[in-house]
Amino acid sequence: MFEIDKNKKTIFSAVQPSGFLTLGNYLGAIKNWINFQDNYNCIFSLADLHTITVKQNPKDFHDRIIELYALFLACGVNPEKSIFFIQSHVHTHAELSWILSCFTYFGELSRMTQFKDKSQKYENNINSGLFTYPCLMAADILLYQADIIPVGADQKQHIELTRDIAIRFNNLYGDIFKIPEDFIPKAGARIMSLQNPEKKMSKSDENANSYIALLDSPDIIVKKIKKAVTDSNNLVKFTDKNTGIDNLINIYSSLTNKKIVEIEQEFENSNYGIFKNKISEKIIETLNPIQEKFNYYIKNKDYLEINYKKSAEMALEISQKTLNKVKESIGFLSL
Ligand code: TRP
Repeated sequence: MFEIDKNKKTIFSAVQPSGFLTLGNYLGAIKNWINFQDNYNCIFSLADLHTITVKQNPKDFHDRIIELYALFLACGVNPEKSIFFIQSHVHTHAELSWILSCFTYFGELSRMTQFKDKSQKYENNINSGLFTYPCLMAADILLYQADIIPVGADQKQHIELTRDIAIRFNNLYGDIFKIPEDFIPKAGARIMSLQNPEKKMSKSDENANSYIALLDSPDIIVKKIKKAVTDSNNLVKFTDKNTGIDNLINIYSSLTNKKIVEIEQEFENSNYGIFKNKISEKIIETLNPIQEKFNYYIKNKDYLEINYKKSAEMALEISQKTLNKVKESIGFLSL
């Protein structure tokens, strides 16, 4: 069973259950999570409290949480080696979030680019949760005294704010929080849209041909890769100009762990058609076992429940210690 090892650094990361997962999420984030499990104390979460800053249909939301939980297990998140819990199951998050919001300035939150983007996108629902979202994220991280926070580049500003809040709090009350660092993985970090290599591959893209979903069938994968934009010169050569072919080479490189030069050599005498067939083959080879495991887990709700329950209990135990220290330091009366 999982136990915190004091000699290892602690990693915390979370994703929102706000849609299905793409190959970009897998190669950019999830694959790293899996690799971290052997060398770090890993604490992962489905950040469902964050997701309700945007309106959700209750049934879809509910189904998506359990599906995503199953899918992460299928990808290799191993509840024997790490904690993988659902944020709303652990009440310390909402509680510390309130406290931290009293140590975070209006001006700081107003500067968050994600807040600015989202308040444009959801102009009829600019709720205060959307605004204080980074305080909840800071609570997620600081509760576990995490050292390293692997995130996408879009979350870097939130981690910086988390550090600022933690330093401010420590200056006032002593050494309560560990100051975390972000970690933005390079390899596979920027898997781009198959239709527009200037844009990140995103599950919310209106054009389904722009992404591969982790649960896409082999036929769909082949079709989408065939349609992926390339260059006109028919050469498998990296241009370093964020072109479609660069994106495909990156994808192939992430899937096979081969270097770009090796890939260029391998396909020296091939055209795009041959290269694309090979990419589809590798994607299918990678996703097939994940899909099989997913289909198994999603039918075994009891097994999923045992795991998210056990993880929530462990997360509560760890986070409660930090929360108690925080409350005591502020001067709250303990019970
Ligand atoms: N806000 C993150 C995202 O949308 C998810 C998240 C919530 C998170 N809490 C976190 C990421 C804590 C890292 C650490 O991607």
